[in-house]
Amino acid sequence: MDAIALPDREIADRRDPGGADHHKGAVAHEAARRRTFAVISHPDAGKSTLTEALALHARAIGEAGAVHGKGNRRGVVSDWMEMEKDRGISITSAVLQFAYDGTVVNLLDTPGHADFSEDTYRVLAAVDAAVMLVDAAKGIEPQTFKLFEVCRARGVPVITVVNKWDRPGLDALAIMDELTTRIDLHPMPLTWPVGVAGDFHGVLDSATGEFVQFTRTPGGATEAITTRMSSDEAEQLLGSTWTDAVEEFDLLRSSGHDYDHELFLSGAASPVLFGSAVLNFGVRQLLDTLVALAPAPGARPDRTGAPRAVAAPFSGFVFKIQAGMDRAHRDRLAFVRVCSGRFSRGMVVTHADTGRPFTTKYAQSVFGRDRSTVEEAFPGDVIGLVNANALRVGDTLYADEKVAFPRIPLFAPEHFAVARAAVTGKQKQFRRGIEQLGEEGVVQVLHSDRRGAQAPVLAAVGPMQFDVAQHRMEHEFGSAIRLEPLGYSVARAVTAAAMPIVDSRPGAETLTRADGLHLAVFVDKWRLASVEKDLPVGSLTPIFG
Ligand code: G4P
Repeated sequence: MDAIALPDREIADRRDPGGADHHKGAVAHEAARRRTFAVISHPDAGKSTLTEALALHARAIGEAGAVHGKGNRRGVVSDWMEMEKDRGISITSAVLQFAYDGTVVNLLDTPGHADFSEDTYRVLAAVDAAVMLVDAAKGIEPQTFKLFEVCRARGVPVITVVNKWDRPGLDALAIMDELTTRIDLHPMPLTWPVGVAGDFHGVLDSATGEFVQFTRTPGGATEAITTRMSSDEAEQLLGSTWTDAVEEFDLLRSSGHDYDHELFLSGAASPVLFGSAVLNFGVRQLLDTLVALAPAPGARPDRTGAPRAVAAPFSGFVFKIQAGMDRAHRDRLAFVRVCSGRFSRGMVVTHADTGRPFTTKYAQSVFGRDRSTVEEAFPGDVIGLVNANALRVGDTLYADEKVAFPRIPLFAPEHFAVARAAVTGKQKQFRRGIEQLGEEGVVQVLHSDRRGAQAPVLAAVGPMQFDVAQHRMEHEFGSAIRLEPLGYSVARAVTAAAMPIVDSRPGAETLTRADGLHLAVFVDKWRLASVEKDLPVGSLTPIFG
């Protein structure tokens, strides 16, 4: 598929390369019309369906199914990795860009499998907002909860979409209650369902008080047919179904659930929409909400806390490295979120950590499995840099004015396994592969004198990271590995002084990560507690996440 043509992508300063101010103005203008977000949800809540529906609405793709090609849906079946095909899951993230109503929307896909990985967290470091998808029948599920916590920790504002309203589910007020009590998120409904889940007539639009009636279309692969009508007309049509909805909504309003932009931006409150992704209902409202309310890319603080203005010269950071996407080329693609300035392909940028120049001749956009060359990009956009062997997750690239953004925090691993080369005589490939996987952030690689260099410990947030590591070690680095799971589940940062004490205790040990961080790992939180009480105060500290 070709790159999506953005209608007014031509910017003024191309015609008039005049002054720096003009250039800055053009960049600021481009930044202001970008919305960069991710959809977070528990598996099966409808993330793939919504992604397709969003793209469909924006007319970016002709028919649903081209993004993921999941199951028997039509479209492209991603074969970036054989594992994906085998399991029917998307391990690699796609970045979908489309134009909508004068806005450039960048939708960063998070892996949709039943398991967490660091990838998901890193994507959340690269977005300005998140859409939290809640299954109407299930409410807040464990992984929605976990992802939401990351959004909160990173200050990412969240728009909530209650999906699958076409099916029997929970009571709408009960879902609002869950948001409040379970995740301490103040709901601010922008629409309110008319009719209970499963007997869905449409929504009340809070901005106008009108009824947006929904008509089921056969097939569902087109936009849902909606009709707007006044409250009086709705009452005539639906009687108590309408007045019940109005009453519920008024009740919410009287208890302080009106929309408050500052509360949304602060992450304390979330606008809520109701819809059905599979029937394409509520999708346009979501797009309109993103355009109207989600923040555009703003100044990003550097490592010292000083903001890098969007109009400053080009800067960006690597939030993801993907290797082996294209089996024919065996390349490594670094996904860079542009933070400031205009990126134009071919420009030579500086790698902040080494001070070395980096050429960007092979910049690409990645859409599903398709790639196309990117000529220019602006704050909020994501570019893929090919052959990025020198780049690691968290690295900053900049032009002209030096900047280094904070590194993306590594999460506390919860799964640990000793890795060994399955075939003797492959030690060199083994070491190189493990080191590379650690640098890419596929897994965290931990060492200790006790275990030695030939038996590093791999640590992960989700066990699927091990599967990816194992697959790549065998197929890419030519050194199959054996993994021996360790029974640890809790990790803390530990001071060097406390390490010998931890190592002397059963069910605990210490390891050191490539970035120099010492970790103490424990079989469970009770063992952690029993060891901690014998250590000087402050010996153990939580790791982010
Ligand atoms: P995920 O990416 O979050 O894992 O979810 P996905 O979109 O794959 O959706 C999971 C299942 O939920 C799919 O059904 C999908 O059709 C269904 N679904 C998504 N949105 C809605 C909705 O608004 N209403 C209803 N009723 N169902 C919805 P499936 O049977 O697993 O797959 P499929 O064969 O239908 O694709």
